[in-house]
Amino acid sequence: MPINQEHTPLVNALQKYDQNKAVRLHVPGHGGGPGLSQAMRQGNLPGWDVTELAGLDDLHNPAGVIAAAQRSAAELYGARCTFFLVNGTTVGLQALIAATCSEEQALVLPRNVHRSVLGGLVVSGARPVFIEPVIVPEFNFAAGFLPDKLEAVLQQNPGVGAVLAVHPCYYGVVGDLAGVDKICRRYGMLLLVDEAHGTHLHLHPGLPADALSLGADAVVQSVHKTGGALTQASWLHLGTDRIVRERVANALRLLQTSSPSYILMASLDAARQQLASRGQAMLDDLLTLAGEAALRINKISGLAVLGKEHLGGTGAFDYDPTRLVISVRGLGVSGYAVARQLAAVHGIYVEMSDAYNLVAVLSLGTGRVGVLKLVSALTEISRSMGAGHSSDGRNFNGHKGVDLSQWLPPQVMTPRRAWLAGQKKVPLGESRGLVSAEIISAYPPGIAVIYPGEEITPEVIEYLLQVREMGVHIQGAADPSLKTLRVVNV
Ligand SMILES: Cc1ncc(COP(=O)(O)O)c(C=O)c1O
Repeated sequence: MPINQEHTPLVNALQKYDQNKAVRLHVPGHGGGPGLSQAMRQGNLPGWDVTELAGLDDLHNPAGVIAAAQRSAAELYGARCTFFLVNGTTVGLQALIAATCSEEQALVLPRNVHRSVLGGLVVSGARPVFIEPVIVPEFNFAAGFLPDKLEAVLQQNPGVGAVLAVHPCYYGVVGDLAGVDKICRRYGMLLLVDEAHGTHLHLHPGLPADALSLGADAVVQSVHKTGGALTQASWLHLGTDRIVRERVANALRLLQTSSPSYILMASLDAARQQLASRGQAMLDDLLTLAGEAALRINKISGLAVLGKEHLGGTGAFDYDPTRLVISVRGLGVSGYAVARQLAAVHGIYVEMSDAYNLVAVLSLGTGRVGVLKLVSALTEISRSMGAGHSSDGRNFNGHKGVDLSQWLPPQVMTPRRAWLAGQKKVPLGESRGLVSAEIISAYPPGIAVIYPGEEITPEVIEYLLQVREMGVHIQGAADPSLKTLRVVNV
């Protein structure tokens, strides 16, 4: 049957979501408009969709209005310089890795790093050296890493080009980044920071300290997530002069589109202006709202909101209270089941769910009404689901995640060589001894079980069979059902 060319499935789905007036507790943090700056809300966006015309500068060689907008952002964040990005933090991380690590060098990074980093490893050819992240046990997710572990890794691995830290993690928790920075300085290492979830940290003293303030050499922030810009709009700050600015600019020229969206770049400029003029006041209100929500949700039977009391003794340092991490373990159901119910019955969409938790992002566009709806929906769900009646019929309580201290698969080749070698699919059961061509992470705790270039050991197969059986959410795999794996074609 020919496809009806009048039909616009994507447009229709977006219209429906928008018209349903859903409660948006997810990124982008502008919440469908309210958290955007006035300039963006009132702007004629089709009219702003232009190219490098006279007077509008050039992102790849900025000398006019884009350069001025970038300077304002750098000043707000106390950066040496700032680059606007139109392909998210993804491209910023890739450019930083390409600019600081060569094929002969290693990149030290936590095992729960975002998959965008793989692109940087493939472009640069650098060898990854993984550090085991800390785990927040009651919620079972991975956060930062311990400075002592970094020191041990640096002592054992000569030829490191840079260290990459994630601050905060997806669940809003930060590790001891000041301690990590101290070790980096002691060993003369560059510290790159993925601050995708932390654009707002610098703007309020009640939030964990931001990476630039703690001494990082370079930081990438997804302004679209928590800074009030449009999706894909991020920026990259250089904090020190230990990274050659032109190398980063060159890497960005290589990796970013030659037709950057002026709407996205304008949203960065406008978001910076809003953060500078009203950021602290907006975050004051948001922190009050988040505190109230946490108090109320903690009173609901079977639920617990992540707080400082859960971090003691874990090595995690602090957390961002605007990110509500809600454990539903006490209900005897999975986070997936509760998220499905919130969306289908109550029209409330959270950012993420895993086997144990919901993650609701409260941001500049979040209103009180939406948060109160979340509280009453969770109260209702707790009553109806709370007697241990698992609506997805699964019990995840046996799923502990990967214990990296027990087994880290041997690295046979770099991710770049695994990428270039060509790939094929094999059944999971027949993959023993082969080299993985993909990252596979199970949520929770979101730590990669296998990384491209690593050998698929019997332990990896056994673990993957276990998570497949439990129906745990798998990320990164080309076949999320895990019937097959992508391996290097030798
Ligand atoms: C920790 C982390 N780093 C990097 C990224 C990539 O950011 P972006 O979506 O801005 O490309 C994400 C995206 O979710 C992330 O969670």
